[in-house]
Amino acid sequence: MSVRINDIAPDFTAESTAGTIRFHDWLGGSYAIIFSHPRDFTPVCTTEFGAVAQLAGEFAKRNTKVIGVSVDSVADHEKWKRDIEAFGGAPAEFPIIDDTSLTVAKAYDMLPAEYYLPTEGRTPANTATVRTVYIVGPDKKVRLTMTYPMSVGRNFAEILRALDAVQATDGVPFATPANWVPGQDVIVALSVPTDEARAKYGELDIKLPYLRFAKRPV
Ligand code: BEZ
Repeated sequence: MSVRINDIAPDFTAESTAGTIRFHDWLGGSYAIIFSHPRDFTPVCTTEFGAVAQLAGEFAKRNTKVIGVSVDSVADHEKWKRDIEAFGGAPAEFPIIDDTSLTVAKAYDMLPAEYYLPTEGRTPANTATVRTVYIVGPDKKVRLTMTYPMSVGRNFAEILRALDAVQATDGVPFATPANWVPGQDVIVALSVPTDEARAKYGELDIKLPYLRFAKRPV
């Protein structure tokens, strides 16, 4: 069963490099990014974890906790963290879950299709999680999902940008246009009549009757 936008993010209890994590309790009042990767001690994953480690301050500024997942053990994660720091130049201080039981991988549908094939022909590689990302809100609802294949490393600048867009539109009648970055105008939702939008958000830039831009109130 896939995890869809607006679903409550599946809760779980798991061991991690930061001890036992009860996911919903750990989330507290923060946003969270859960991201899976196939295996420790692999090249693309090392670059990805290095990128996340470098962005620790950016996630903290956005009230967002980050948690990594793979089907490896805490002991392996601890050893691999040294390589991540050596490569990325920043310590991986966020928790990395030990999902040797596949509990989290199954709950979040992080496994590749071949995993579900009959056991004949299955190899250990089939139980490696693919590269998924879930942004979860403080209300524990899933706000965004992304899935990349094993061969394609993620762009964490885009994940940060998407997090900014999620936070800029959460609970307000705004949407963000293609390629939006913070500071640019936002789109006023179609549910808000133009007069009301002007009264609330000031001058509008009306490109089309259904495409109305406003400055996002700060
Ligand atoms: C990687 O480079 O991250 C990778 C390589 C092979 C299998 C899984 C991951």
